[in-house]
Amino acid sequence: MKIFIDTANLEQIKEVDSWGILDGVTTNPSLVAKETGDFKTNIRKICEVVGGPVSVEAMSTKAEEIHKEAKELAKIHTNVVIKIPMTEEGIKATSMLSKEGVKVNMTLIFSANQALLAAKAGAAYVSPFVGRLDDVGQDGMDLVSEILDILDNYGYPTEVIVASVRHPIHVSQAARMGAHVATIPYDVLKKMFKHPLTDIGINRFQKDWENVAKR
Ligand code: G3P
Repeated sequence: MKIFIDTANLEQIKEVDSWGILDGVTTNPSLVAKETGDFKTNIRKICEVVGGPVSVEAMSTKAEEIHKEAKELAKIHTNVVIKIPMTEEGIKATSMLSKEGVKVNMTLIFSANQALLAAKAGAAYVSPFVGRLDDVGQDGMDLVSEILDILDNYGYPTEVIVASVRHPIHVSQAARMGAHVATIPYDVLKKMFKHPLTDIGINRFQKDWENVAKR
């Protein structure tokens, strides 16, 4: 499974990239708003660090305008993928852009039918928001499973990005289901390293090794 980080923070991206496990980045308007400085410069810097796709959201709402904005955003760097929210206008823009070879990550996916439409429009990625579904009492990971089944039934090349990840269990569930990508916040990535028995085990080995070293 590919691991993306869900952030627009360059320092977090650099740190996770240094682990050698980072395949890409997803941003959204809320994440971008947390950072300072020029938006396009920041995205270019992120692209220069990460040797993989970097999703950047188009904010226009009409298909023609989304298309125009997407073409501008795609000029920032060859790794830029255009995030487009799931609407009729977004689907129209996705159809146009995918025919022109511009990669689209269709975002704010909350149903299997939305993902089916995005795949048919040629989206390179669909992003079901699992945490936000969990928040309203619907199992977000069930949706991921449905989408994977549908894409597999017809051999769509569209990849599923499990988004709105809130904890490490979402990540391991995504991997067990065979999701193509999980986009994970920095704090959840850090939690994935940890198990108390690992820490206890390391301490015990260190102590025992001190006795060996004393001999
Ligand atoms: O980037 C999209 C998604 O991951 C947002 O997550 O936590 O705001 O629901 P969240």
